[in-house]
Amino acid sequence: MNDKINLIINEASLFEAKTAEDAESFRLKFLSKKGILNQLFEDFKQLPNDQKKTAGVKLNELKEFLNTKYNDLKSNLSEQTDSASKNDLSLPGDPFTLGSRHPISLVRNEINEIFGKLGFTVSDGPEIEDDWHVFGALNFPPEHPARDMQDTFFIEKNPDILLRTHTSSVQVRVMEKTKPPIRMLMPGRVFRNEAISARSHCFFHQIEGLYIDKNVSFADLKQTLLFFAQEYFGSETKIRLRPSYFPFTEPSAEMDISCSCKGKGCNLCKYTGWLEILGCGMVDPNVLENNGIDSKVYSGFAFGMGIERIALLKYQIKDIRIYSENDVRFLKQFSSEI
Ligand code: PHE
Repeated sequence: MNDKINLIINEASLFEAKTAEDAESFRLKFLSKKGILNQLFEDFKQLPNDQKKTAGVKLNELKEFLNTKYNDLKSNLSEQTDSASKNDLSLPGDPFTLGSRHPISLVRNEINEIFGKLGFTVSDGPEIEDDWHVFGALNFPPEHPARDMQDTFFIEKNPDILLRTHTSSVQVRVMEKTKPPIRMLMPGRVFRNEAISARSHCFFHQIEGLYIDKNVSFADLKQTLLFFAQEYFGSETKIRLRPSYFPFTEPSAEMDISCSCKGKGCNLCKYTGWLEILGCGMVDPNVLENNGIDSKVYSGFAFGMGIERIALLKYQIKDIRIYSENDVRFLKQFSSEI
């Protein structure tokens, strides 16, 4: 029986499986009910008792050997199919998801681009500011309500350090550093201590423009804003300016654009035919002087708008809170825009 077992081991060790069928024929030949191994166990029963001990040990070794060999054949096969499928260039690729720009960034970039055509460049400033840059230099009287706890977030109870409530603070920083002519755009995040609702949030984004040179007039302001409105909202767009008040501009105005309903009246414009989009005015001479610019030589205009509001009008969004919820179902809708 020993010799027989050695022969079988020899034969089995030379066996190679290229396909699953080959491995199965190995199993049928050596390991199945009617296979060689079982046959040997049958023969074993007939052996005289004195040979059973050594033959039994040998037979168990064979059983072990055949089972290991069979498992090896199978695992080699699955490795082969794995690497074959890795090299198959016709298989579909692993899907990956592309992110998309946030609508606020899209609108900001587009506005930057439009004013870029008029020679405006972009400037940045800190979100944590001091009273001087947010209020003082901008001609806010000490008792102005915007300084109130209700409007402004103060940091660590120090009334001098606060979160900027508008990007006009960057105007001040630009004027401090730069000699006129100045033609700057200042986009950024601002903070106000307001209850969060569909129409207002405790933080939002503004984009502000500042133009200072000799002989800058209100007519320049109006023409610049008309250019912007028609580039952004379409060449048919009309603008209108209503008198207003800001401490840092004199005279000041609010600008409306004509609604896309063309005066017929709709929900968006609340049946007025006009949509308010920004505040603007001629830079107050006090502000120029506060920042070391001679107001007898130079004049300028400034304007500021809320990016959320512009995006709201552009994409017909009804609730300002959706911008900061990071809901991919909302954000995905903008993935086709660059
Ligand atoms: N800073 C103003 C605001 O936050 C907007 C504005 C900017 C108005 C520039 C006039 C000129 O409401």
